[in-house]
Amino acid sequence: MATIPAIAADRVPELLRRMPKAELHIHIEGSLEPELIFAMARRNGVPIPYASVDELRRAYAFTNLQSFLDIYYAGAGVLVAEQDFFDMAWAYLEKARADNVVHAEIFFDPQTHTARGVAMETVINGLHRACEQAREQLGVSASLILCFLRHLSEEEAFQALEQALPLRDKFIGVGLDSSEVGHPPEKFARVFARCGELGLHRVAHAGEEGPPEYVWTALDVLGVERIDHGVQSARDPQLMRRLAQERVPLTVCPLSNLKLCVFPRLEDHNIRRLLEAGLAVTVNSDDPAYFGGYLNDNFLQTFEATGLTAQHAWQLANNSFEASFVGAEQKRRWRDRLDEVFASLQA
Ligand code: HPA
Ligand code: ZN
Repeated sequence: MATIPAIAADRVPELLRRMPKAELHIHIEGSLEPELIFAMARRNGVPIPYASVDELRRAYAFTNLQSFLDIYYAGAGVLVAEQDFFDMAWAYLEKARADNVVHAEIFFDPQTHTARGVAMETVINGLHRACEQAREQLGVSASLILCFLRHLSEEEAFQALEQALPLRDKFIGVGLDSSEVGHPPEKFARVFARCGELGLHRVAHAGEEGPPEYVWTALDVLGVERIDHGVQSARDPQLMRRLAQERVPLTVCPLSNLKLCVFPRLEDHNIRRLLEAGLAVTVNSDDPAYFGGYLNDNFLQTFEATGLTAQHAWQLANNSFEASFVGAEQKRRWRDRLDEVFASLQA
């Protein structure tokens, strides 16, 4: 690591807001704010079982991953037209810009839409158009990662892949999300092997609620380049050594972990331990409309609760660039911008 300029502790919040960063773990359907859910429900004539935005928000009291997923898939049911997918992604990208996110790799869950009769191209074209416009109008680069739903079968994942392949140039990789426990990565061995042959990047949620074994098999059976969440890895010292040695990126989502009761309090989160064990940790928002904050909220609250410092901030931002699926030259430019912001806030 380069020498990081000393920054006064009281300027760390400003630093966290201003520093350029990449977001690598954001489910676009999880950025759908209640106001937008109601607006889309009205314009598409989709009934929702809540009387108001406030009543819907009050339902966001989760006890675990599944209790969240049930309401998250119901919310996504208001997305029907290509414009809906565009509007959802654009709203996120504007918030990302405000948080000084320079690059986002965005997950989407096409099977939750195609199961309702929405065409794969409606989903991908709407999201992709927002990504293109963000590059031109916001100066934010954004790309898409198609996630397979792990509670469904591998056969259904193959069908989703088949439907998406005509739009191959509009997404950069595949991921694996939804209900983790009982659906180990190896259930998707063949479809991930096929995605590897197609030159798609591969990532998977593992070790969010599930055991460290799922992180091992995501790496060894699915061949993933990053682990999404991965916080349960701390229970396995041998796995921790491997993740550190190979610098496997973990896309950690602190407010998500808090809201889904993975840790009882943010103060109890193990992010500092993971970082200090030499893991390539990044900070991400996961499903910001449901978990109480976008990327800067995650940084600010986590630093406040766990006592992370400016040195950690530099490491986390640089890790987000290193772990992204962009070229070395682009990563170097973002790192230079990071160093400029640090220099400008020097004590
Ligand atoms: N875990 C698994 N699946 C998900 C998540 C998550 O945090 N968010 C949206 N789908
Ligand atoms: Zn996630």
